[in-house]
Amino acid sequence: ESRKQLVEVAGVPMKATTIDNWTQIQNFEAKPDDLLICTYPKSGTTWIQEIVDMIEQDGDTEKCQRAMIQHRHPLIEWAQPAQPSGVDRANAMPSPRTLRTHLSTALLPPSFWEKRCKFLYVARNAKDCMVSYYHFQRMNKTLPDPGTWEEYFESFVNGKVAWGSWFDHVKGWWNTRDRHQVLFLFYEDIKRDPKQEIRKVMQFMGKSLGEAVLDKIVRETSFEKMKANPMINRSTVSKSIMDQSISTFMRKGTVGDWKNHFTVAQNERFEDIYREKMAGSSIHFCLEL
Ligand code: A3P
Repeated sequence: ESRKQLVEVAGVPMKATTIDNWTQIQNFEAKPDDLLICTYPKSGTTWIQEIVDMIEQDGDTEKCQRAMIQHRHPLIEWAQPAQPSGVDRANAMPSPRTLRTHLSTALLPPSFWEKRCKFLYVARNAKDCMVSYYHFQRMNKTLPDPGTWEEYFESFVNGKVAWGSWFDHVKGWWNTRDRHQVLFLFYEDIKRDPKQEIRKVMQFMGKSLGEAVLDKIVRETSFEKMKANPMINRSTVSKSIMDQSISTFMRKGTVGDWKNHFTVAQNERFEDIYREKMAGSSIHFCLEL
């Protein structure tokens, strides 16, 4: 089985197809009313997307399904030969647009800053994120084989995974909060109190929906509901791209699964690395609910 290798840009490993399209990506022209969903991979992108979709469609599930077929918030850096790229898809969308990226602040197309777009960032604690990414790479054939859990641990803490270092990503976006319109959310908060976090998203988007609609959005964006939705669970994606007999796309959706993976020694080493890499940052993560 041949797995795709990553290519580095500015020291950050990325998919080769993205690098082939790098000029188009960097020259992307944002619009002032764009909303950009920003995440490090495996931090709850699909979840927040669904929440934003439901808010955009005023909680109308049917309209949401239709919107999903039509656009589904293009990932700006997505590229595959002979297919419209993320940039092409974004350019073809009517405004106001909701777009998506996993790029760090250092690699974001500059136009997003210049146009003063709204950024919706979702962060997930590094340990659960690492576990989720490991299982994702096992089943996602468009990414490198993760190797053993021990090997993956090293790749992750050294930023040798697609889209680079979790630490740089989270620190970079955390530091934009006072200079830009950023709503910074945590996966763990959405899990603990979805309604409260969904309300924040709604307000950030300038919408006002009633309590009943908010309650419906909470229900419709639960892990169980989303996992059962073929438009979301990737059950239609070919096994040669995602082999869900290895691990499912909607895998567990919990906080604290890291405890089932990290050995005591790995956890100690991780804590040391974390302290060093996040020194001076005021960001705080919840590691269990
Ligand atoms: P796990 O692998 O820990 O289960 P992304 O969408 O950024 O790729 O993130 C995927 C992670 O978010 C997966 O984590 C997935 O299960 C989780 N997830 C997706 N939808 C969710 C939901 N509605 N509630 C909780 N977690 C969700």
